[in-house]
Amino acid sequence: MALSHRRPTRRQFLAQTAAATSLAALPIKNLAQAQPASTQSPTLKAASSSRNLLVGCCVHAATLKRDAAYTALVKQQMSILVAETEFKFGPLRPTPTTFFFDDADYLVNFAERNGMKMRGHNFVWHRQLPTWFDSYVTPQNAEQVLVNHIETVAGRYKGRIHSWDVVNEAIQVSDGLPGGLRNSPWQKVLPGYIDIAFRTARQADPHAILTYNDYGIEGEDAASSAKRAAVLALVRGMQQRGIPIDAVGIQSHISAGPKPDGSHTYGPALAQFMRDVQSLGLKMMLTEMDVNDRELPADIPTRDKAVAEVYANYLHTTLAGPDWRPGRIAYSRDRASAVIAVLTWGITDKYTWLNHEGARKDGQPERCLPFDADMQPTPAFYAERDALQRS
Ligand code: XIL
Repeated sequence: MALSHRRPTRRQFLAQTAAATSLAALPIKNLAQAQPASTQSPTLKAASSSRNLLVGCCVHAATLKRDAAYTALVKQQMSILVAETEFKFGPLRPTPTTFFFDDADYLVNFAERNGMKMRGHNFVWHRQLPTWFDSYVTPQNAEQVLVNHIETVAGRYKGRIHSWDVVNEAIQVSDGLPGGLRNSPWQKVLPGYIDIAFRTARQADPHAILTYNDYGIEGEDAASSAKRAAVLALVRGMQQRGIPIDAVGIQSHISAGPKPDGSHTYGPALAQFMRDVQSLGLKMMLTEMDVNDRELPADIPTRDKAVAEVYANYLHTTLAGPDWRPGRIAYSRDRASAVIAVLTWGITDKYTWLNHEGARKDGQPERCLPFDADMQPTPAFYAERDALQRS
């Protein structure tokens, strides 16, 4: 489908109208300027390009091969991709001594062929580990298994990966370990795995942006606050120990309503965290954004409006740069020192993981991404595009 050279369909017109309404309802003073441009105007990629900001989504190799409309939309809209599963430890490692690279190779080649950058996600995570992990990996061989994995994978794609999520989701404050570390399978066999992973990644692919990536650090609530403090302490500690780290990935799996006070659900505390990360000299990326609507009623216009409001509010907060204050939009002119990429966790509601994990109780499919299940732009698309354009 070509968004740029045709009259809007009725569906697109309705989506556009809903987006305008939702943006106007935002509790940010100068959103009067934020009326979405017409449906024909730029793609996400075009909207972000002049700002030196990458925009992307996660993709599945199998879906790219099978679904032509999906593939066309990805090529049309995105400038950076990340694999939804294919680069994870389990999918890459059928056995302790072998690697399966077909799908990961396909994705790296697809991105290059289409002039897009590719993120690597991830070397270390507590989920999607292979079935052999628990019986094979011991305190005696864990370091060798991890180093060999990173050297092999990072080495294979050396120079072709924009940024690696070296460690994913290592903080879980409620586990009660020092520093808020998660009591993960890697932590159990190899305390110190974080430093080892980052050192090995730097050696194997010296120019990739090495990233620590986590979720649950976006909100204004106490749990998010505690997790942000632990993440900050982790990356600060790494820097003090001379561990190479370049960026923090803020996953941005966030939620639309209900909000107790209706105001800056994503706001001052997140902005402060981002200033703190920036002052450590680290870059940031929004790596996995989606806005789940599972707490909202089934009515689609209601959901679309609420989801688009959260896209607008969250992206205005996170892309505004260090000068952000509630109720004010003041975008950073120095993109290199702030957020360098915005990725959603998928491009179309058709394939969102949220229909499988934490699905809506009423069985309705989620409307959490910039394009709906028919590949039509949702109000969230206009909210995202507007924020990218103005960043
Ligand atoms: C999810 C995928 O979307 C699912 O298909 C898979 O079954 C589980 O992982 N945080 C992450 C991502 O860092 O890797 C997760 O992706 C979503 C949460």
